[in-house]
Amino acid sequence: MAKQQLAVLITLLAFLGPAACQQQGLHICFNGWLKVPPLLSYLLCPPGSRTTNPPPSPSPNPAPPSGAGLSYDYYNNNGSSSYCPSAESLVKDAVKKAIDMDPGVGAGLIRLFFHDCFVRGCDASVLLNTTTSKDSPTDTEREGPPNKNSLRGFEVIDAAKAAIEATCPGTVSCADIVAFAARDASSLLSYGKINMKMPGGRLDGRVSFANETDQLPGPFSSLAQLQSSFREKGLSSDEMVTLSGAHSIGKAHCGFFSDRLPPNPSTMDYAFATELEVKCQGNEANMVHQDYQTAYVLDNKFYQNVRANKVLFDSDDVLKTVREVKQNAEYPEIWERKFEKAMENLGRIVDVKSRREGEIRETCWRVNGAGY
Ligand code: HEM
Ligand SMILES: *[C@@H]1O[C@H](CO)[C@@H](O)[C@H](O)[C@H]1NC(C)=O
Ligand SMILES: *[C@@H]1O[C@H](CO)[C@@H](O)[C@H](O)[C@H]1NC(C)=O
Ligand SMILES: *[C@@H]1O[C@H](CO)[C@@H](O)[C@H](O)[C@H]1NC(C)=O
Repeated sequence: MAKQQLAVLITLLAFLGPAACQQQGLHICFNGWLKVPPLLSYLLCPPGSRTTNPPPSPSPNPAPPSGAGLSYDYYNNNGSSSYCPSAESLVKDAVKKAIDMDPGVGAGLIRLFFHDCFVRGCDASVLLNTTTSKDSPTDTEREGPPNKNSLRGFEVIDAAKAAIEATCPGTVSCADIVAFAARDASSLLSYGKINMKMPGGRLDGRVSFANETDQLPGPFSSLAQLQSSFREKGLSSDEMVTLSGAHSIGKAHCGFFSDRLPPNPSTMDYAFATELEVKCQGNEANMVHQDYQTAYVLDNKFYQNVRANKVLFDSDDVLKTVREVKQNAEYPEIWERKFEKAMENLGRIVDVKSRREGEIRETCWRVNGAGY
C-alpha cells in the first residue's frame, strides 16, 4: 500500500466522528481495524484487505513457533558474552515501579508484547520510531492503525533499558526486555497467580513498517479471521481464545465498539450497552475499561463477560461460540495455566530471517548507528 494511502487510512482511524460511524454501508478493512465508506474502501482498501468470506476452517494444530536461539536463564551463564545476571530483576523493578504508579500501564506492556511478536516476530520492531535509514524515512509499526494513539508502556521499556545499560552495556536486547516486562506485568496484575516461564535470547530488528501491522487481527474481525491470523503465527484457536483473556484488563476507545451501542441492533447486553453509551458520549476517542468488574486484575472474568454479553468488541463477542470459553469461565486455574503457556509460545515467535540481521540496540526506539 502506498504511504499516502496509509496516511489517509490512519487519519480515518483517528476517529471519523459519530456521524460517519453508522455500521451500515461501511466496509471493514485492514484486517478488521478500519471502517470506511464504500467509495473510500474502493480507493483505499486493496481487495485482499477487505473483509469478505471467512477463510477455510482452521486446521486444529499449527506447527508451534520455533523459539530458535532462545533459552531460559539466557543472561545468567557466567562466562558467556550475554552474562548479565541482574537483567531480569532490573526489568521487574522498572515494571513494578510503573504499575505501582498506574496499573493501566501493565495492560499496555502485555499488549506491547503481543503487538511486537505478531509482526516480524519478537524483535522490538514495535518500539522503533525511526527505521534503518534516515535517508528513506517510512512510517514504523507505531504509526499503524492497531498501534497509533493506543499502545503504551514505551517509557517503562526505556527505563528498564537504561538501568540495564548502566550495568551491562550492549548485552540485553530490547525484545527480551519487552518479553520479560509482559511476564512481570502478568504476575503483578494477577496478584501472583500467573507466573510464566520466559526464555531470553531475542535480537532487535532494524526494520519496522506500519503497513505490516495489518497482520494483527482487529475488533471487527470474524472468528475465522481471528483463528487464521493466530494460526499463521503458529498459535492454535485455543491459544487465541486463551490470550484474549487479557481483555480482562486495560482500556479501549469507544470507536472500536460504538457500532454495537444503541440505537444500533446488537448482541450486547442492553443495560451494559446503555451504560457504555453514557460513558462514550458519542465520542469515538473516549475510553472505557474493558472489564467493568475488576478493571485492573488479570483474571478469567473476561470469559464470564463473554457469556453474559458484556464485552466490548465484535471480536470478543464471536468467541462465545467456542467451547473453551465455558471452561475458562468456570475454572480459573485451568485458564491461568493455559495463559502462561500461550504467552510463552507468543514469545517464541522468532523470524529467523530478520534475526540474522538482528542486533542489541543501545536505545530501544532507534536502530544502532542511526546518527540521531
Ligand atoms: C484476538 C484478537 C485481538 C483483538 C482483535 C484485539 C483488539 C484490541 C483492541 C481494539 C483494543 C483496544 C485498543 C484501544 O482502543 O486503544 C485492545 C486492547 C487490549 N488488548 Fe487486545 N486484541 C486481541 C488480542 C489480544 C491479546 C492476544 C492480548 C495479549 C495477550 C491483548 C491484550 C490487550 C490489552 C492488555 C489491551 C488493553 C491495553 C491498554 O489498556 O493499554 N489483546 N485489544
Ligand atoms: C510496506 O511498506 C514498505 C515501505 O514503504 C514497502 O517497502 C513494502 O513493500 C510494503 N509492504 C507491503 C506488503 O505493502
Ligand atoms: C564467574 O566466573 C569467574 C571466572 O570464571 C569467577 O571468578 C566468578 O567468581 C564467577 N562469578 C559467579 C557469580 O559465579
Ligand atoms: C521516539 O520515541 C521516544 C520514546 O519511546 C521519544 O523519546 C523520542 O523523542 C521519539 N523520537 C522521535 C524521532 O520521534
